[in-house]
Amino acid sequence: SESKTDIRKGLVGVVADVTAVSKVMPETNSLTYRGYPVQDLAENCSFEEVAYLLWNGELPNASELADFRAEEAAERALSPALHEVIRAFPHGAHPMDAIRTAVSFMGMEDPEAGDVSEPATRRKAMRLLAKIPGAIAAAHRATKGEAPVAADPSLSFAESFFHLVFGRVPQPEVVKAFDVSLILYAEHGFNASTFTARTITSTGADLHGAVVGGIAALKGPLHGGANEAVMHMLSEIGDPARAVEWLQSRFDHRALVMGFGHRVYKNGDSRVPTMTKYAERMAEVVGDRRWMEMSRLLAAEMLAKKNIHPNLDFPAGPAYHLMGFDIPLFTPIFVASRITGWAAHVIEQSADNRLIRPLSEYTGAAQRSVPSMAHRG
Ligand code: SDX
Repeated sequence: SESKTDIRKGLVGVVADVTAVSKVMPETNSLTYRGYPVQDLAENCSFEEVAYLLWNGELPNASELADFRAEEAAERALSPALHEVIRAFPHGAHPMDAIRTAVSFMGMEDPEAGDVSEPATRRKAMRLLAKIPGAIAAAHRATKGEAPVAADPSLSFAESFFHLVFGRVPQPEVVKAFDVSLILYAEHGFNASTFTARTITSTGADLHGAVVGGIAALKGPLHGGANEAVMHMLSEIGDPARAVEWLQSRFDHRALVMGFGHRVYKNGDSRVPTMTKYAERMAEVVGDRRWMEMSRLLAAEMLAKKNIHPNLDFPAGPAYHLMGFDIPLFTPIFVASRITGWAAHVIEQSADNRLIRPLSEYTGAAQRSVPSMAHRG
């Protein structure tokens, strides 16, 4: 039924609050974290520096970075109870459901559970940042019948991620490409999962609850789940020679093409050129040009026929595949990064909070009286 009021379905174009964390500028296809262009951060900084920046507003100096790295590295181990819970996860469970459940469990065992003060939230954020990779990796390894790998505190965040998943650290170019992807995924304004996290925070609930909600939102294929969908799509196409014909069949069925389009960017996603460059590097390192060649053809055809540009998930999908990750790990990797943005927004929301509670316009049945059981159809 028709609405009388101006309803912005999907909150399109609605400015819900202010934020000082990041700025998305669709006019110039650009994005800054705390004022710094994301592509400059990706080229010049480590993910740990960017995490520090998002949480503190400034880049760390050498000693601040050393302290931050040491704190994170010291919190990587999972409790024996969490390891037991992970072993009990149903076989074949999606890693996004696994990490969502693991974070929920971490909330119950957190030493400061129930304390929503800013200092406690910051410490919880550090514990989550440190432990999420281990939980993702342990759950993934469990499904393959493999024991978890003990965290090595001497490794960087990105190196440690590989070590926890595979038991080894790849060559520096691969680690750098992964670190770049983490930086690009770290933060993006009021996207669906971040807005979910802020909504949960606005009720006075704790960080773990907000992050569990964020993970649930991120799993969907219209949001973070797209990076997995992209690789499934490329695998289905299989051969660059089939790309254009395959795309035409999608058009004929009016089907979505995963990894394309964006609510805010209409002329290109600020993060795509940097991620594409590093995905191309991965293709060179691995010696497998097929996926990037297919990607190039799809992007050119989407632009020519639909005027729709790729989003970050488009180059991230093949990049993670070329790094050796199984497809179901792609969106959990996004979680391992976006925990930084979510936590920054949770801290910001708490510092100047008002309950998020919009209105709806009722379009259901007119008011009526409750019939007795005998009078129901
Ligand atoms: C992320 O918000 C964020 O910042 C998210 C994110 C982050 O960092 O947090 O950037 C990460 O989630 C990226 C998005 C990943 N999702 C996908 O790749 C899924 C495929 N994309 C689409 O479903 C879509 O583009 C969305 C969901 C991303 C955006 O949806 P909108 O803003 O509601 O746009 P729309 O669906 O109304 O599209 C407008 C038009 C439509 O055609 P018309 O009805 O006007 O004729 O463009 C078409 C759409 O059909 N269109 C597509 C398309 N995306 C848009 N057609 C085919 N394939 C696509 N991918």
